[in-house]
Amino acid sequence: MWCATLTAVFVSLLPKVHGWGASGHEAVGAIAQQFLASEASSFVASTLDSGETLSSAAPWADDVRSESAFAWSAPLHFVDAEDDPPSSCSVSESRDCSDGECILTAIANYTSRVVDDSLSHEQIYEALKFLDHFIGDIGQPLHVEAFELGGNDIKAKCGGSSTNLQDSGLINKRLKADFGSSVATWANTLVTRIKSGEYANLTSDWISCSSTTEQVSRRELRNVETDIKGHLASRSTTPLECPHIWAVEANELNCEFVFTYTQFSDLCSTSYYDGAIPLIELQLAKQGFRLAAWLNVLFDGSPNL
Ligand SMILES: *[C@@H]1O[C@H](CO)[C@@H](O)[C@H](O)[C@H]1NC(C)=O
Ligand SMILES: *[C@@H]1O[C@H](CO)[C@@H](O)[C@H](O)[C@H]1NC(C)=O
Ligand SMILES: [Zn+2]
Repeated sequence: MWCATLTAVFVSLLPKVHGWGASGHEAVGAIAQQFLASEASSFVASTLDSGETLSSAAPWADDVRSESAFAWSAPLHFVDAEDDPPSSCSVSESRDCSDGECILTAIANYTSRVVDDSLSHEQIYEALKFLDHFIGDIGQPLHVEAFELGGNDIKAKCGGSSTNLQDSGLINKRLKADFGSSVATWANTLVTRIKSGEYANLTSDWISCSSTTEQVSRRELRNVETDIKGHLASRSTTPLECPHIWAVEANELNCEFVFTYTQFSDLCSTSYYDGAIPLIELQLAKQGFRLAAWLNVLFDGSPNL
């Protein structure tokens, strides 16, 4: 017991490894960019720097979190769910975000701020880049998990090199093996699946904020549009319902798959890789689509999807 505690103390001094890596975040942004409605698209173009897109801007929040000027933002990238995978998975706002500094409150915060006319251009620009990034992070199973520090402390290998469960080695291998290391080509493949392929019949569920563990009567009450409009009308800092559902969904993957790895095994050259890639791609596609829906509701008044 003392040993685990001691390890936790030391590891917590190290920066958290970045789950999706820059490529995963760029893919989420590239997918979202292709589903923006007209007002959202104009807002994004006029708010980001010239030449920037939701794809190139998405990794920014990870790039700055280790700078002292942005140290305050580090806890906003995750919610440390105190559950017990693989036997029991759950995310509870009161249990896991009691200090109000987690990805759930951050998404609520930056959703209000991105449309707050009283803020400066710089603050609105920052809010957009944080939303661009956090809506990606919340779909990463290990960003919604406290067990072993979100997987950072679990030793494994990828293609022979040391890694941990949260490394982006799986994504890098996929990019190199099948997409000539091009995030844009990979993202286009996922967009095609959304528009006319295997994801096409799932997208309405993605933005209805339904949960398989909830009763139908409650499910029908919310979707990204009612969730955001309710939030903005009440001006509350209470976390929104949809991001909570997304966190629960990603966290559930820890019980279904992520923690089924074999200690010290090579994640990139075993059946783990074959099992992980479809889940990673589904999560990235979902979060890209949801990011577009989110911005479309904020700037065009409805998801437009
Ligand atoms: C809300 O945004 C402001 C400005 O970036 C930041 O100072 C504050 O820490 C944020 N709070 C949360 C919970 O995201
Ligand atoms: C969506 O379509 C696929 C075939 O492309 C099918 O296997 C799957 O069951 C369908 N899912 C839903 C939720 O309708
Ligand atoms: Zn992050």
